[in-house]
Amino acid sequence: METVLSGIRSTGNLHLGNYLGALKNYVKMQHENRCFFFIADYHSLTTHPDPTQLHPNVHGVLAEYLAAGIDPETATIYIQSDVPQVAELYLLLNMHAFVGELERTASFKEKIRKHPDNVNAGLLTYPVLMAADILLHRATKVPVGKDQEQHLEMTRRFARRFNNIYGVEYFPESMPYNFGAELVKIPGLDGSGKMGKSEGNGIYLADEDAAIRKKVMKAVTDSGPTEPDSPMTECVRNIFTILEAVSTPDTVDYFREQYATCRIRYGDLKKQLAEDIIRVVAPIRERIKDIYNDSAYLSKVVREGGEKARESASETVAEVREIMGIRPF
Ligand code: TYM
Repeated sequence: METVLSGIRSTGNLHLGNYLGALKNYVKMQHENRCFFFIADYHSLTTHPDPTQLHPNVHGVLAEYLAAGIDPETATIYIQSDVPQVAELYLLLNMHAFVGELERTASFKEKIRKHPDNVNAGLLTYPVLMAADILLHRATKVPVGKDQEQHLEMTRRFARRFNNIYGVEYFPESMPYNFGAELVKIPGLDGSGKMGKSEGNGIYLADEDAAIRKKVMKAVTDSGPTEPDSPMTECVRNIFTILEAVSTPDTVDYFREQYATCRIRYGDLKKQLAEDIIRVVAPIRERIKDIYNDSAYLSKVVREGGEKARESASETVAEVREIMGIRPF
């Protein structure tokens, strides 16, 4: 049995990219492994330090996680800040993380470009906190989307460095995981880039059918292929990428063929895409509504999840302290 961990920042509602890139994969593997799923609320403070929004955001993401199929009876689902041991492991790992390598991280560079007025140390050490999340339970498989690949690479580097410095084989190799297939990047509907919480280009798991249809019908396309087998422009390729993730192979083949023979009607493609997205999203959305208001259930889930996560975390932190030479008198 392997240890699996994955997480999401609590900076807004879950979108289709989060679900198809990561969440759907955890749900598929949760019964065969030792699984941890958590909500990264400490991470959200690097960009969204708003005390009035923090709790409502965590509440929303928690309900969405459960609605998407995570089973708290088998998986341990918890909130990052309910497990303070992560802060200690983060501090200890920071002692072996170099400022130069952190400054070179793609996500850090992107954040300083977007928010030059708030380049805080938490942002710089974001990958160290993420490594602490993963190594806290010594996870070997980490279901994530393509955008997290570099963070996973850094986690493995920090783990190897720790093992080398202290001459131990303590931390495992934590691998990004998608059932042997490539990690996915679900694009937005605006013609470029990935679907993201702050990009305003997403379809959310809580979206109503009408909103989904409207967003998909407005997706950016081009003026259509003019020669057989011509390459797709990025915006059309993006629509096909989402189609591949939500539709049947027959449907995808049909529209590929229509494209290759210049007979495609983007209106038909979008209508089909919208219906296939709705098939995925609608049942989750209906469950979100029930779960969101069930405070007794939600507080039981996080109380029990927090306890189980703290148990696993304290074991690791005690062993790391011992390895690093922090010992009681
Ligand atoms: P976050 O909150 O941005 O996203 C959560 C998960 O969704 C995936 N994802 C996507 N996958 C495919 N296409 C997309 N457009 C897309 N957008 C998001 C992400 O890859 C991720 O798997 N740093 C993490 C949160 C985190 C974490 C961790 C994850 C903190 N500690 C430890 C795993 C393990 C983040 O910001 O993800």
